[in-house]
Amino acid sequence: MSDSLNILYLSAEILPYAATGGLAQVAAALPRAIRKLGDDIRVILPRYGLINPEKLGLKQALERFPVPFENGVEWASLWQAPDEELPIYFIEHQRFFGSRQGIYSFPDDDERFVFYSRASLEAVRHLDWRPDAIHCNEWQTALIPNWLRTTYKDDPFFAETAVVYTIHNLGYQGIFGYRVLQIAGIEQHGFIAHPDIAPSLNQVVSMMGRGIIFADIITTVSPSYAQEIQTPEFGEGLDPVLRDRSERLFGILNGIDVDAWNPAADPVLPSRFSSDDLRDKQTCKLDLQKQMGLDAASDTAVIGLTSRITDQKGFDILTAILEPILRLLPVQIVIMGAGDPRYHHILSDLQQRHPRRLAYHPTYDEALARRIYAGSDIFLMPSRHEPGGLDQLKAMRYGAVPVVHATGGLKDTVIDHQPPIIGVGFTFAPYDCMALYAAVVRALEIYRHPDIWQAIQHQAMTRDYSVDAAARSYRLLYRQARSLKLTGRPHPTLPGAPESGTTSDQP
Ligand code: GLC
Repeated sequence: MSDSLNILYLSAEILPYAATGGLAQVAAALPRAIRKLGDDIRVILPRYGLINPEKLGLKQALERFPVPFENGVEWASLWQAPDEELPIYFIEHQRFFGSRQGIYSFPDDDERFVFYSRASLEAVRHLDWRPDAIHCNEWQTALIPNWLRTTYKDDPFFAETAVVYTIHNLGYQGIFGYRVLQIAGIEQHGFIAHPDIAPSLNQVVSMMGRGIIFADIITTVSPSYAQEIQTPEFGEGLDPVLRDRSERLFGILNGIDVDAWNPAADPVLPSRFSSDDLRDKQTCKLDLQKQMGLDAASDTAVIGLTSRITDQKGFDILTAILEPILRLLPVQIVIMGAGDPRYHHILSDLQQRHPRRLAYHPTYDEALARRIYAGSDIFLMPSRHEPGGLDQLKAMRYGAVPVVHATGGLKDTVIDHQPPIIGVGFTFAPYDCMALYAAVVRALEIYRHPDIWQAIQHQAMTRDYSVDAAARSYRLLYRQARSLKLTGRPHPTLPGAPESGTTSDQP
């Protein structure tokens, strides 16, 4: 095997072009880190309406190529970004992406992402660039491993192409009806039935389920989440399938771009600081208090929170105790993010009643997020479940001590302060109001001991969060996936999964 592999990286979101959440951040940072280590990794995403080719200086890479779709053919073209570090391509299709604003939530999302996936395979063929492995992410690209074992099984171009499939959040599986199989041209294989799975999932297409069944290797974004999703509590109905494939399932911790998130060089901050000298973090705190209309009190602990305002992120238990926290504890709270209108109302109301104690900014704003990490003493992340989580990493890097629910990637990255262990933050379990409240109280008590607090801050800030460790793991897994594919070792599939041309179909 040569040292450098060709890796095709597919994600429906990649910063700075299209983003709704953590996926876009990982999809921007990880391929760059992998490329630096020597693989020829290239990424493709749809050319959504919000991506303006002229403004971004995109160049045409392929003029017009056919993409098999439903019973016929659709035509696509390919753009390339003027990025010197990493080849980034965009699939152009007027009807599916062209003039639409927004990324998801269209009634034809199944068609749009099946098309994007299929067009990506056909694009690399037309570029005559043969991937050794394809790294697929989330449900939008999950049919690719399925195709490679059916439609493309005897296609010499992809004969040696392995697939690594990454789950970022099992809560979004891409569940569609039978028609998606027709669009994708795999209806002759029918639904895939699994004896232990919820009957409701056997009569639909879970795109993510297919990614899990057919990929050579499956990953998710933290070791704990990799374990959790094999249980009924977290498995979203797919835990039997994940247990079947557990030998091929790996939890690789996410990382962040530590140059882009660096309090010592962040131009957005009123003053910069590092773990060696935290005095200027105090300036950031006063500035945040001022900006958000809070009392300028350097001794009062500021609790920050940047998040989607949803149940998954813990707003059910949090909003239930905000009032008692404000009444009983000497803190200020800054919350930023959009989401569920129910929580929006509760937070707006609390802000009105406690304007100098609680500030709520109802939209995501990256510059403000940076000021919140820098200006907060404590960063709260009470997510009910959290596959990986990136915000706690950024908060730690900016010296905000995290208080988190011990779940998924939060559990794997936040070591609890349990003397004599200094730790990097505070964790709580079980997931309930009392445990969350107790963790906040515990953090506030330690906050009154500056020597211990600074030791925690120092450890939090100096840990290695960079995406480089993940990049090294993925390079190994690409090679592992490839050798599994090439040695033709039997692919442990489900009873009834169409593997080697055999079908067991019950549409
Ligand atoms: C999803 C997960 C989040 C993870 C991110 C990037 O948004 O919910 O936990 O950090 O993907 O992998």
